[in-house]
Amino acid sequence: MSVKDRLDIKQLPEHMAIIMDGNGRWAKGKGFLRAIGHENGVSALRKTATECASIGIPYLTVYAFSSENWNRPKKEVDTLMTLLVSSLKKELKTLAKNNIRLSAIGNLQALPKKCLKELTEVMEQTKHHDRMTLTLALSYGSQDEIITATKAIAQQVADGKLAVNQIDQNIFSNNLFTAGMPAVDLLIRTSGEYRISNFLLWQIAYAELVFCPVLWPEFNENELHKVLLEFQQRERRFGKTSEQINS
Ligand code: FPP
Repeated sequence: MSVKDRLDIKQLPEHMAIIMDGNGRWAKGKGFLRAIGHENGVSALRKTATECASIGIPYLTVYAFSSENWNRPKKEVDTLMTLLVSSLKKELKTLAKNNIRLSAIGNLQALPKKCLKELTEVMEQTKHHDRMTLTLALSYGSQDEIITATKAIAQQVADGKLAVNQIDQNIFSNNLFTAGMPAVDLLIRTSGEYRISNFLLWQIAYAELVFCPVLWPEFNENELHKVLLEFQQRERRFGKTSEQINS
């Protein structure tokens, strides 16, 4: 029986998030330029997103470029931005064929104009797709997101539209970039690193974390199935006891 056949299709995460790490090390190991690692990272993302949509995961959010990634050498930042534009153009077909809506979170205004334009166009052209929402975190930092939400809520209080004691988890969630999306159930980080790196800190409060050793360009459908099986073998207690969950 294959790993995929062992999956319970009714117990898939509603929202899966991925820290796609290891492109540089993969390229270095093969004697390639880092840019080739990122290109192969796009292929791994295509395979993963297509399979998620096919098996029925409604939300996939991936860390494509962090607010800290601006500090990489200019040449690598330029390569990633160029790759983003070319991938958006190329992958529109894949998104359409698989009925995937593209969305983005982060400080998008910091992106080069060309990137923002292409991104906005692809989001517009895929906005009616309803099989899965693929969200790219671009120029994204979770602490920035939390500060932005806090300022927006404070402004609503200052304007007399909201009372301080009305502020609850719901209000807070609805002021994050991910407003309207369910909480993350499963967070995957590839490449054997055990860090969250300022990704979706609020949204992963009760997520299962899976750290897998493969470098991102080597992640594929089979690796995805293995991670999902591990997810399904975890007991999610949300602060309750095992007995409560099983009764
Ligand atoms: C981490 O690998 C990966 C990134 C910083 C970029 C991830 C981007 C993609 C998979 C491509 C899709 C996104 C765009 C913007 C086109 P790393 O370079 O940190 O790897 P290392 O830790 O081995 O050096």
